[in-house]
Amino acid sequence: DYLKIFSPATVANVSCGYDSLGFAVDAIGDEMTFTKSPNLGVEITNITGADLTYDVDKNAASAVVQKILLEANADFGVQLTIHKGFSPGSGLGSSAASAAGAAFGANQLLGNIYSELELTKFAMFGEEVACGSAIADNVAAAIYGGFVLIRSYEPLEIIKLPVPNELRLVAIHPQIEIKTKDAREVLPKEILLKDAVTQWANVGGLISGLHSNNYNLISNSLVDIIVEPYRKKLIPYFDEVKNAAIEAGALGAGISGSGPTIFALCKGDEIQKEVYNAIEKSYRDKGIDFELYASKVN
Ligand code: HSE
Repeated sequence: DYLKIFSPATVANVSCGYDSLGFAVDAIGDEMTFTKSPNLGVEITNITGADLTYDVDKNAASAVVQKILLEANADFGVQLTIHKGFSPGSGLGSSAASAAGAAFGANQLLGNIYSELELTKFAMFGEEVACGSAIADNVAAAIYGGFVLIRSYEPLEIIKLPVPNELRLVAIHPQIEIKTKDAREVLPKEILLKDAVTQWANVGGLISGLHSNNYNLISNSLVDIIVEPYRKKLIPYFDEVKNAAIEAGALGAGISGSGPTIFALCKGDEIQKEVYNAIEKSYRDKGIDFELYASKVN
């Protein structure tokens, strides 16, 4: 009747896959506890690590738990605690970690009655509560783990992709906040056909590279000519960090979700260390606080 879970941070978009690709980051995430209660409904008893609302209708986690309990006709309520391990507004799927963790935890208390796909749909509701759009890339990555493709939104179809063994992540979070809603508003409504061709060819290349452990192909495909040119203007020193990562041997680098976190993917622990140091060096004297992360993709 008591459950403690870890819900991971996630990198959405992964350069070319706006709203359709994401992966989980096992070194960063939130801890949540769920306690069954005879009182129906949801109560948040404690939030640490970030200043988030206790209003159960507005908090992404409690809103999701509430929805699942209602849908399942549960004869119990849940008391929830949330410990945020990373900042909201970072671009690492903070609201998604809360929403996905909530869906996963509530489902456990219900005796595991929902599939991963159904849990993703519940968690998307949490994303809608948190940022106004029911986007699936972060929540699906948190629920399925590893790399995922949102093949379709209507109906929702999630494809779990293989993760090459040596794939590693470095991420830098400059301590400024970018709201997903704002980062979506800077994007164009229409794009050129020739740009679309480039972009979808890269998505195909990236997915093929993941399947065939082809790091060169992954590297060549980690390109975003549609979203990054608009969003990078919101992120101080984006190009400098990206160039430093690539010079140090990263396969590619881009904006994590809607930013400001910048991610780099690397092959192996050695290069990961080099890239970590290079990114650290490129941001050290900029007068902006930052956090640096290194992780596996898992
Ligand atoms: N795919 C989303 C975006 C991720 O880039 O806006 C943020 O939720």
